[in-house]
Amino acid sequence: MTLPIQIAPSVLPADFAELGKAVRDLEAAGVDLIQWDVMDGQFVPNLTFGPDVIAAARRHCSVPFEAHLMVLTPDVMAADYVKAGCSRLIVHAEACTHLHRTLENIRALGATAAVALNPATPASAVENVLDLIDLVLVMTVNPGFGGQKYISTMECKIREVRNMITAAGLGDSIHVEVDGGISAATVGGAAAAGANLLIAGSALFKHPGGLGVAVTELRERATAAFVA
Ligand code: DX5
Repeated sequence: MTLPIQIAPSVLPADFAELGKAVRDLEAAGVDLIQWDVMDGQFVPNLTFGPDVIAAARRHCSVPFEAHLMVLTPDVMAADYVKAGCSRLIVHAEACTHLHRTLENIRALGATAAVALNPATPASAVENVLDLIDLVLVMTVNPGFGGQKYISTMECKIREVRNMITAAGLGDSIHVEVDGGISAATVGGAAAAGANLLIAGSALFKHPGGLGVAVTELRERATAAFVA
């Protein structure tokens, strides 16, 4: 038993001057949730959304928000992003000296907790915290910017994470998410490796058919290719 295929946008390519419209359009396009790429300019060389920006967008749609915290200090920032309306916080294993404690703190805030793994970080980094999380994010690019090339060698790690979750009997409670270079051309490989939650930025916002067509196309291709 695994969780259903879900398609979620990264808001990174959106017009930052029109974020309310962007989230309304994404909800209308049928996304399952919205991911906010939070970057602090230290963990990654880019700087993006503070909690007030997300709180402002929160009022414009009803789909769940998750914050992908690409930051050096997730413990310091967590409460503000939950207050801003993010129901899931994704922290990077590489940024957490005490990952178990960080995840417990996020759950104590009332959010669900999740772990992101950069390309060089092994799947084993999450094997001792599966009881605390509802999602593992396998990065398929090096974080910091949208529009990068999908790293297909990550499919082995996606499969390793999926098999770890299945072996623990948690396939119906933990998502395997991928983020970075996901498009109609790459989503099949990620889904076949076991990813059920697909994050896309460029492929959605730059699709010639518009957001709705792009979301439907990704969902159909992921569903057809998915292997638990
Ligand atoms: C990397 C970002 C991107 C973004 C998606 O730090 O997290 O992966 O979400 O970018 P695209 O879909 O344009 O590769």
